[in-house]
Parts: sequence; C-alpha cells; structure tokens
Amino acid sequence: MAKIPMARPVVTEEMVEAMGTAIRNERMVMGESAHKFEEEFARYIGTKYAIGVGSGTAALQLTMIALGVHGKEVLSTPFSFIATANAVVEAGATPKFADARESDYNLDPVKAEKAIGPKTAAMLPVHLYGHPADMDPMVAACKKKGIALIEDACQAHGAIYKGRKVGSIGDAGCFSFYPTKNMTVGGDGGMVTTNDEKLAKEISKLRDCGRVSRYMHDVVGFTSRLNSVNAAFGRVQLRHLDGWNERRRAIAKLYAKELKDLKQVKLPPQGSKDIVPVFHLFAMKVEKRDELADFLAKKGIDSAVHYPIPIHLQPIYRQLYGYKEGSFPVSEKLSTSMISMPMFPELKDEEVKIVSEAVREFYGG
Ligand SMILES: Cc1ncc(COP(=O)(O)O)c(C=O)c1O
Repeated sequence: MAKIPMARPVVTEEMVEAMGTAIRNERMVMGESAHKFEEEFARYIGTKYAIGVGSGTAALQLTMIALGVHGKEVLSTPFSFIATANAVVEAGATPKFADARESDYNLDPVKAEKAIGPKTAAMLPVHLYGHPADMDPMVAACKKKGIALIEDACQAHGAIYKGRKVGSIGDAGCFSFYPTKNMTVGGDGGMVTTNDEKLAKEISKLRDCGRVSRYMHDVVGFTSRLNSVNAAFGRVQLRHLDGWNERRRAIAKLYAKELKDLKQVKLPPQGSKDIVPVFHLFAMKVEKRDELADFLAKKGIDSAVHYPIPIHLQPIYRQLYGYKEGSFPVSEKLSTSMISMPMFPELKDEEVKIVSEAVREFYGG
C-alpha cells in the first residue's frame, strides 16, 4: 500500500542546477543570489525591503530586537507553533497571550485589543495554516495605542488580506522557508519584509554580526544570514509559488466537497473575496481526533496535529510564567480537536479522494 505523506517539498532539476551555479560562482554567504532573492521576495510581497535571515524564528527574533521590545511585553496567540513565543523570549521580552477565535483559529482581534497594557510593545498575530488573521482591527488597535504590529507569516507565503499580501500590512512580516512550508530554500531560511527603511537597516546589521561596515560593529549582532545556494534554490521556488498555492486551494476545495456532509467534521474556512488563504495546512476540527489519526495511519495515510499543546501549557511556559489550564479556553479546546490532512501541491486528486473516503469510513458516513 502506497503511503500518503503529510507534506512533500518540490525539488526540480532547475532548482538543483541553480544551487550548483551559485556555489561555483558566488560568495557562499550573502552572494548575488541572496541579494536577488531579497529583491524578488520584496517585490512579490509588495514591500520596499526584504532581508534574508537564517530561519523564520530568526526573522521574528531580529525584528523584535530591532524594534526594541527588550524588557517589555509582546502580545500573541497561544495557538501557534512554539517558535512564535520563543522568539519573544529570545528578544528579551515577556510573551503575553490573547485567545484564538473559533471562526478562523487566529488571534482574536477583540480579545487582543483588550489585552494591550502599559508594557505592551508589539502585537504579533500569526496567519495560522496559511489563513490571514483579521488585520484591520489589529492595525487600528496598534495605531491607537502606538505599538508595533508584526505579522508571523511563516505559514502564509502569498496569502492575501483585502488586496494586500500578508507580510506587507504590519510594520514587518516574518517568513520561514523550512522545507515543509509553501516554499522553501532547500533547508532552513527566513525573510523579514518591511517598508520601514530604518528597521530594514537595523535587521540587516543584526543578522550580520552587528556590522555597519567591514570592520565596524555598533550593536551586538548575530550570525543569521542566508546562504547563496539556499537563496538560488528559493528564487526558483518563488516563481512557482502562485501556481502551487492555486493547487493547494483546489485540493482544499476537493476535500471540502468530499467531506461536506460529515457532521463530525468542521471544515476550514475557504476564504472570500477579501481573504485568499494559501492552505499551508488543511486543518479540520473533528470529533475523536486521536482515534481518527490512528485509523488513517493504519491505512498508510499520514496526518499531524497543529498543535496538540497550546504554547502557554508547554512545560517551559508553565514553569516560566505559571500558566494553567483554563487560561485560554478556545485554544485549549482547539488543541484537542484539530487534525491536519495531507496537503502539498503534488498531491493528486485520487489521493485526496482516498484520504476523504478513509475519513468517511471512520465516521461511518
Ligand atoms: C507560525 C510559525 N512561526 C514561526 C516558525 C519558525 O520558523 P522556522 O522553523 O523557520 O524557524 C514556524 C515554522 O516552523 C511557524 O509555523
């Protein structure tokens, strides 16, 4: 029985050749490909600047350090990958949370605004599963309170909110190129997008040992740059991204059609005129989640849970900040009922139907 995986990055001869050309002809770190990739990524997202860094986590860390959050608080969602909050701690700030909302699993803008306090330096919504967070009320709240707005767009390359790509709406957008993301650089990598020249300069410096010029350093920086081979790979991937995202939306539509009458399954929001998601994951809210995962595994179908433990209940966050069950009930409920189905551009319609049939069989539908 052929196994159906959760995700599979696309690797073509063209991508491999681009890496070969870069390693033979360029400086290995921050060579010509890295600069071109930054230019092309900025143009794609619709910002003036893009700064390549070592990972999505580094993109978040360096952005927050550059914005000066040290000693203050950053407000985010507990229903995300742990790196979102880790980056806050690593930037010397305290993570504060507001709950996710049921309709799109993203940071609830009403609760987030209420949670802004005197020490809040920034709000950090996440475009979870590739679905844009509800940015308008957050932009308004951040403006009103004079705090920064940072988008964790690590799962949402190419997603659109009211005509604008995510990553171009807040003060900065942070992207990950980890292999399973909607596009990769053939390894770890990340990017910060922004229209703010001062912020772009500060992040460029921080990723490169705090270097202002060859031998001069005016901040304590990091080594978190993009390798030329990875950038060369990423440039080719970027040219395919819109096509892949279109295919992801078609797969999501097919899953939705195949599963629509199952009362035990709540399908993900499909988007609207204003919201164009990119389905990094096809995450459903279901009954008997863990039993379903076991049933699918026995049929050779991979699934995953994003995320079984909300960040505030992870052992280290309980230990550091004393969080307990009941603090964020929506996120806690979601963590017991979300399951992600196989989703990647090369997934075939027949495979979507096999997975859907297995889900139907499990629920007896
Ligand atoms: C929402 C979110 N934030 C941050 C990250 C961190 O990105 P990276 O793994 O490239 O450090 C990821 C992905 O891993 C993510 O999904």
